[in-house]
Amino acid sequence: MKQGQAAPVSTLERPPDGVWRGLQDWRAGAVGANRAWVWGRRDAVPLDADPKHLGPENEGNVPPGAWASPSSTDSIPLPDTLAACADLILRTPDPATKAALSHRAYAKFALTKSQGEGSGAADRLAVGTATPPASPARPAKPELVHPKDVPSPKTCDLGFSAAMMHNIAHIELNAIDLAWDTVARFAPMRLSERFRESDGDDDSFKGLPDRFFLDFAKVADDESRHLGWCLQRLQEMGVAYGDIPAHNVLWEGAQSTSNSLPARLAVVPCMQEARGLDAGPRLVSKLRGRGDNRSADIIERISAEELAHVAVGVAWFRHVCLALSVDPKEAFSAEIRTHAPESLRGPFNHAARVDAGLEPDWYAVRGDDGSWRMGREFPEQGEGGVTTGEDVSGDDGLSGELVRRLRDMLAMEGVTDLSQPESA
Ligand SMILES: [Fe+2]
Ligand SMILES: [Fe+2]
Repeated sequence: MKQGQAAPVSTLERPPDGVWRGLQDWRAGAVGANRAWVWGRRDAVPLDADPKHLGPENEGNVPPGAWASPSSTDSIPLPDTLAACADLILRTPDPATKAALSHRAYAKFALTKSQGEGSGAADRLAVGTATPPASPARPAKPELVHPKDVPSPKTCDLGFSAAMMHNIAHIELNAIDLAWDTVARFAPMRLSERFRESDGDDDSFKGLPDRFFLDFAKVADDESRHLGWCLQRLQEMGVAYGDIPAHNVLWEGAQSTSNSLPARLAVVPCMQEARGLDAGPRLVSKLRGRGDNRSADIIERISAEELAHVAVGVAWFRHVCLALSVDPKEAFSAEIRTHAPESLRGPFNHAARVDAGLEPDWYAVRGDDGSWRMGREFPEQGEGGVTTGEDVSGDDGLSGELVRRLRDMLAMEGVTDLSQPESA
């Protein structure tokens, strides 16, 4: 489909109530299933998997780091609240240790919830509160630079696959911190015991239930596995995380939404994470076209799992809007126009977004024929602004800087050739 053509989103089947059909299954997934830390012969497997599931690439690369054996971080005690764990993880610079701690914190909180608040179990982990840092701790490398200064995978000395996997590893590292920041930042909004005991006649917003924090802890755990697969694949290719510069664009989305739960949900899980749904299939195709099926398999799995994270964001955004008696479409559009107008540009993977519960008219533009469009083409280099089509950004338009930023982000995702068919 060429850029600007109408997308058949009107025929897509919306999930009931705008909630992803797989959400309950994702929530019910066993904690142990999230221990498939190693990318084996063809798929993710636990560290103690039968050797038949491992291939030649695994030799010398298993275990690839602390993420594959969270117990190796047992010398670091977990604090006694989930918010404090989130704070600890945000202040942990080493990516592998950050991932391992994420799994331990999620597993402990999930166990607490499955046993019940009043169980008195030794492993009990309350939500609690914390004062998270403005920015997460990070390793000395990679150097964080302007997006335009991140090497293009097409010309990077590391080669396309390694450069792309490095970019994805950086995104996954950010995603871990973003999920934990949401836990810690909004922990003071936890539903209080006083309201838990109410008779429910008053349905105004009382706070966030523990399910909210469990969901985002699980997202952080998912992201930790994703990071592990990327770090392992980089190691297999002889590359280390930090070998090339990276950007800080994703964390900017966290900073600008740190004081507003609706803004955080709209910008980070609903739009930033949805970029993975948009870019994933194209990247998988590019990697397969270059013969790197192993990296393609990893990205394909990651992209598929990102749908749950978008769905979690959409479900909680709808929940908050309902409680606040505001229209989700209007609220979503307003938050995105304010905090992330650059994310209103396609191409969009409408099918995956609709599956996740996102409504196209929250983020896309409608054509003269009434059907939804994929999004608009970017102006050619040097034009510095929007040149065609409807103004999806409301009254303000998009500044040249925002357009350039998005172009840079898309370049890192390998989707710069927006109007070109997939190439080998
Ligand atoms: Fe991820
Ligand atoms: Fe994600």
